[in-house]
Amino acid sequence: MRRVLLLLAMLLPLSLAAEDGHAGWLRYARLSAQDAQAYASLPQIISVEGSSQVDRCAAQELAHGLSSMLGHPFAVAPTAGRNTAHAPAFDLRLASRNDAMPPESYRFKREGNDYVILGADTRGVLYGVFHLLELVATLQPLPKSTTASAPAAPIRWVNQWDNLDGSIERGYAGRSIFFDGGKVRDDLSRVSDYGRLLASIGINGLTVNNVNADLRTLEPEELAGFTRIADELRPWGIRLSLSIDLSSPEVVGHLKTFDPLDPAVAAWWSKTVDEIYTRIPDFAGFVVKADSEGRPGPSHYDRTPAEAANVLARPLQKHGGIVLYRGFVYNHHLDWHDLKADRARAGYDNFHALDGKFEPNVVLQIKHGPIDFQVREPVSPLFAAMRHTSQTVELEITQEYTGQQRHMVFLVPMWKWALDTDLRAENRSTPLKEIVEGRSFHQPLGGFVAVANVGMDTNWLHHPMAMANLYGYGRLAWNPDEPAEKIIDTWTRLTFGNKPEVVRTIDALQLESWRDYENYTGPLGIGTLTDIIGVHYGPGVGSAENNGWGQWFRADRQGVGMDRTVATGTGYIGQYPPQLAAIYESLKTCPDDLLLFMHHVPYTYRLHNGDTVIQHIYNSHYEGAAAVATYAPRWLALKPDIDPERFEKVLELFHYQAGHAIVWRDAVNTWFHTISGIPDELHRVDNFPDRMEAESMQADGYRTVAVTPIETASGGHAVECEQGSGCSLSAKAGRSGEYRIAVQYFDLREGNAHFTLLVNGAPIAAWTADDTLPPASNDLKLDGHTSTRYTTMPVLLHPGDTITLRGMPDGKDPAAIDYLSFLPAGKQATDTASATTMR
Ligand code: GCU
Repeated sequence: MRRVLLLLAMLLPLSLAAEDGHAGWLRYARLSAQDAQAYASLPQIISVEGSSQVDRCAAQELAHGLSSMLGHPFAVAPTAGRNTAHAPAFDLRLASRNDAMPPESYRFKREGNDYVILGADTRGVLYGVFHLLELVATLQPLPKSTTASAPAAPIRWVNQWDNLDGSIERGYAGRSIFFDGGKVRDDLSRVSDYGRLLASIGINGLTVNNVNADLRTLEPEELAGFTRIADELRPWGIRLSLSIDLSSPEVVGHLKTFDPLDPAVAAWWSKTVDEIYTRIPDFAGFVVKADSEGRPGPSHYDRTPAEAANVLARPLQKHGGIVLYRGFVYNHHLDWHDLKADRARAGYDNFHALDGKFEPNVVLQIKHGPIDFQVREPVSPLFAAMRHTSQTVELEITQEYTGQQRHMVFLVPMWKWALDTDLRAENRSTPLKEIVEGRSFHQPLGGFVAVANVGMDTNWLHHPMAMANLYGYGRLAWNPDEPAEKIIDTWTRLTFGNKPEVVRTIDALQLESWRDYENYTGPLGIGTLTDIIGVHYGPGVGSAENNGWGQWFRADRQGVGMDRTVATGTGYIGQYPPQLAAIYESLKTCPDDLLLFMHHVPYTYRLHNGDTVIQHIYNSHYEGAAAVATYAPRWLALKPDIDPERFEKVLELFHYQAGHAIVWRDAVNTWFHTISGIPDELHRVDNFPDRMEAESMQADGYRTVAVTPIETASGGHAVECEQGSGCSLSAKAGRSGEYRIAVQYFDLREGNAHFTLLVNGAPIAAWTADDTLPPASNDLKLDGHTSTRYTTMPVLLHPGDTITLRGMPDGKDPAAIDYLSFLPAGKQATDTASATTMR
């Protein structure tokens, strides 16, 4: 018995215990004895010079991380200060002035038997510790000495769009970790865990409430709650910030006005700011959304954004606080008949004349593109126009327009593409990254903000792969020059281990994913083509047109694309510095990837890649969906090397994504086929010999319904069951051979309908419609958000076999079915691109 136990104990570290993803990339997984050998001579005592919470936190983290990875104890020396025991130690030290290190930086050096982590300040020490732990976790040697690693910019913040009621705007991973029922949660343990994750990637500021700020945000009782959040974040070197509503002086302060030039208003802000600092001495400052999407703003009094920002900035200044004023100001009641109207112009039009008019502690927070986080947008021209104003770029980690953490889309390549874009201000090199670092125009502040929206889901963002976006954002904010390949490689090793096959496969999947998503949603710069006036998830092509929101792409029978040229269009391109404007203005030089953002062209226009626009739309959608169909099989090959919990979760999501990519492909292609009237040269679009439409099958209880938008169901129709006892469809197979049968159905969240598929009366598959779908807000319709698919294992069919599909509705889910598709097993057929395997 003892021998068995011993054997089990020896095997245990090798078995793959289930992991719930809560640790993110900070798993500190045990290294093999062989790998650990390389670190055998490391000191086991950690001595820490500073006595702040951050220093203690750094020391504890180092002890915990090393003990966990190397399997023997590391301990923090009991007394703060220099190592008096004279045993070899990790020495966590603060740099002296002579060391001349940039703020928040760190470096490593060996001193005799000691290993020193030298921080420019306490944050620098903490960041050094996390970096050292990362080196060990990814099996890299600890260097004898390094030069200082310093962040690219002082502002490296995350915004959360959490509401006081506990919901999260555009959050896809459960409810708020900060708020519930109108106030700050009692249990803030996840806040501290989140702070730790953020600190490990160098984040130093966190805005915890929605930019669409609750009007009660600055009420005294709410401030008491925010103080508790700040206390949880402080040990991780993270300063709390708040989104505020500009009408607060009126709503909270009961003044008659919120006019920023009114002295009573200025006095109210001053008093309120002072109060905040008595509670939260390291308060970081305010984020402001005003005159945008219905939020009140200075335009109400005919004042400028600069006047509004400055009234907040002045009292913050003496406390070291800043204002991040958002450049996302536009009119969402534009006249779509007006061919000169253009939402993309708004940022520049609203702000460029204000350059130089802001207080020095005001920073303009500008979304990277001029519209709203579409799958691809050019860089906003506003960045090049504000040469006397500090700026941050706003990125979106939460995948609002990029698959809402049900699709894997690694966004770092997209962000790098934007950050590397050279705006050519003053006819010289001014890439976006250097502008926001403050380097291009010599600004003192600047940096990076990203909207993360983690939630109560144990693994923070729902899709295990989505954590790479949070991690990658922090890495880019520290060093925007770091290659995407390096970032994902480190993340994968930290998250899934160092096995070469695992690392190779996951790195490749992640790096391909943005292009794949772009291909099966909105290529050529057209916009994501999602339902833009709804939940921004599935296809909703026409929704962008004919309304005031201005995400138009102006498709008609002849052509497609927004004419933003100076010559004949909205003039938007003229907002760029001349050298870049010239590239976009000319069809000869405008890159294909941005063509439809910049130009209106006939469908028959030939791209630089030789395809016509319409054929490219068709092809890219087939390519994208086919690429996604490979994710699950590639992932399956890693089964022996991934813990079961995360393995199954990712597999399920990859199957789902493959099915939903087909929904996207067909909806977009059908829409463009219908409007252009031009057939697909390869005869795939609207031609599905493999399909059997549900409405054409013999129905028992099922009734045919029209689906809107029409292109989100095959043939525009589906069937629904309203009988509590269930309904069925049947038909003769009409073909022989081995097939996987794909059932395209609709999964509504309020109910778990059940399906059974039978051949000649014998069940071959049964499943429940319980995909964990976004959107956060419930979609109760049959459409492109709810359409999903189930694919069977191969079955042998003979002509005349009877196929029966039984549906059992549940709650508000009517067990609706769109079509069945017969996919020859083994070989790729038209629809195939689809072939997902049995779940
Ligand atoms: C988008 C998003 C909104 C958000 C807004 C903003 O429009 O859909 O939910 O409030 O951006 O960034 O302010």
